[in-house]
Amino acid sequence: MTDTRTAWFNGNFEPLADVRLSPMDRGFLFADGIYEVTAVLDGKLVDSASHLARLERSAAALEIKLPLTVAEIEQIEHELIARNGLTRGTIYIELTRGVAERDFLAEPETPTLLMFTQAGDMLASPAVTNGVNVVTMPDIRWGRRDIKSVMLLAQVLAKRAAKAQGAQEAWLVQDGYVTEGASSTALIVTADGTLVTRPNSNSILPGCTRAAVLALAERDGVALEERLFTVEEALTAREAMLTSASNFVVSIVRIDGQTIGEGRPGPVAMRLRELYLEMARSSS
Ligand code: PDD
Repeated sequence: MTDTRTAWFNGNFEPLADVRLSPMDRGFLFADGIYEVTAVLDGKLVDSASHLARLERSAAALEIKLPLTVAEIEQIEHELIARNGLTRGTIYIELTRGVAERDFLAEPETPTLLMFTQAGDMLASPAVTNGVNVVTMPDIRWGRRDIKSVMLLAQVLAKRAAKAQGAQEAWLVQDGYVTEGASSTALIVTADGTLVTRPNSNSILPGCTRAAVLALAERDGVALEERLFTVEEALTAREAMLTSASNFVVSIVRIDGQTIGEGRPGPVAMRLRELYLEMARSSS
């Protein structure tokens, strides 16, 4: 089927199928770029300010100047939602250092900025109803995982290995402690009902959904602990879950083949998902 989506590329709206990216783009040659993924629900951006703030932070970490203000970017996102008639899905934004001769130190005058939409239903998926399986594997990524870099090879390989073992996500492990999922934040609920997740640092991406869910949990009276947890602790947890812009809150029902809790979505995850959806539906 032909792709009829409209994208925004370096200043213009154009058919996504017509976007011509240079082979000399540093995003392609060096993974010298960053990205952002924001959910769209009922045709509205979810938690937009948080994602735009992280986009600015990631760009600054690479010393790439955003060619537009975040307000202008948000305006384009609204326009993309309208032009593509998107009700549920995501908007993907990628910023690279730009096009130049292949030279590690090249400094192109203008960066590359691409934005497109992806339809997807994060409300009615088997993952929401049944929960998902994860498998653990070594976290072989670099030391600045707090930057949302397009250098995603380790995550691609981890997800492929997880899929081969019948799982929908990989949990990455360093020194015995879970860092995060390949494309999601990892959380557990202990026997006494405490929601535990790793504190933000260079070891993980500071999840926008994570931040929103922790705030909602706190307001709801859930006990919270931001600390490291091991695979062994996760295996004996009452619940496990993941958060991400593309999944919101999803229960994890099996880790490395071992059943977690009752083997179906648990009450804390379901409650947090409901609170997150309420928050998402009330955003503009
Ligand atoms: N991934 N950790 C990693 C490594 C991620 O790639 C993501 C998001 C998250 C969750 O962050 P947030 O809640 O802000 O989406 C955590 C996106 C969805 C992706 O790569 O498609």
